[in-house]
Amino acid sequence: MAVRTLDDVTLDGQRVLVREDLNVPIKDGRIGDEARLRAALPTLRRLMDAGARVMVMSHLGRPKAGAFDPEASMAPVAARLGELLDCPVPVVRDWLEGDTVPAPGGIVLCENVRFNAGETDNDEALSRRMAALCDLFVMDAFGTAHRAQASTHGVARFAPDAVAGPLLAAELEALGKALKSPDRPLVAIIGGSKVSSKVTVLEQLTDRVDQLIVGGGIANTFIAAAGHGVGKSLIEADFVDTARSLMDKARAAGGEIPIPEDVIVADELSDSAEARVRDVDAVADSEMILDVGPKTAAAYAERLRQAGTVVWNGPVGVFEIDAFSAGTRALAGAIAESAAFSIAGGGDTLAAVAKYGVEDRISYISTGGGAFLEFLEGRELPAVAVLDR
Ligand code: 3PG
Repeated sequence: MAVRTLDDVTLDGQRVLVREDLNVPIKDGRIGDEARLRAALPTLRRLMDAGARVMVMSHLGRPKAGAFDPEASMAPVAARLGELLDCPVPVVRDWLEGDTVPAPGGIVLCENVRFNAGETDNDEALSRRMAALCDLFVMDAFGTAHRAQASTHGVARFAPDAVAGPLLAAELEALGKALKSPDRPLVAIIGGSKVSSKVTVLEQLTDRVDQLIVGGGIANTFIAAAGHGVGKSLIEADFVDTARSLMDKARAAGGEIPIPEDVIVADELSDSAEARVRDVDAVADSEMILDVGPKTAAAYAERLRQAGTVVWNGPVGVFEIDAFSAGTRALAGAIAESAAFSIAGGGDTLAAVAKYGVEDRISYISTGGGAFLEFLEGRELPAVAVLDR
């Protein structure tokens, strides 16, 4: 889909309402990972430098609609954005009233869009009120593009003009490059606890990739499907048949979903548990699988080094605990060393990327969690589709 962008519109003096995804983790008023703030900066700077009157919208968390909640206020985000942009970023509480449009080159941050009744229902009256504030709506929030809500979708229907922002456009281009016209071999890593939550992604990728490396609890279900005992490991018995048919489907399409040769096991999942290496067919009834073993990590790392494209969503072990982190660390290192075009997305994945310090050696790091997965599922993102009008 070819969407219009900032290159196609006039910005100088225009009232520009831009939707970003500034939904960052905040604890005790302090921001944790600020990657989403940093990712929005080039767009905001470009709009301000072009003389636009910039009004930024975002949600933060999932507050109850209809009332202000200080716990979900955008105030900490505004303070940090102000430092990063090196200019004041006032938070406007009654922004829907429309009397706080900044001067050309200036910026304000609208208070949490989800305080407004009707936001998550994509209410038409609320969408029209937002649209009336601006000459141009810029959708730049890839992380929220899978939500059809008033500030992501409805506003684009009623604004005088609506385009994709640079961050959204870059995300779509990077994901499109990885999935629609990849350099081969294309290797995807899908980790996580449950097949059921990623079954559509697994189905979609099985047809497209050369190798689909599964990790975490998902891998356990595939190990069981390959006929091995998995002891006390987390698996989904109802999805063993699905896993088996996905392996058959991958093989029929000339690809592969490899099963680990060896695994790391323990008697329990805890910081103090003793980790042991086991061949995949030697897991005892009292043991649980918590990571891939060293032979498997080396084999997967080799596939990643030889890949043309890598898509990574989800760790392959319980990497938060050192004894079960070697597999994920080896894969992160191999992706970093690989000449492949690599793309990583999802909360756990980005935590692993940060833990192993490979941010600068991954070709593209997506700001999307749910949106990244829905793109991998091949689903249309409603807030992107609405721009194509
Ligand atoms: C996210 O963190 O994935 C996005 O900001 C969307 O948030 P939501 O799941 O609350 O809509």
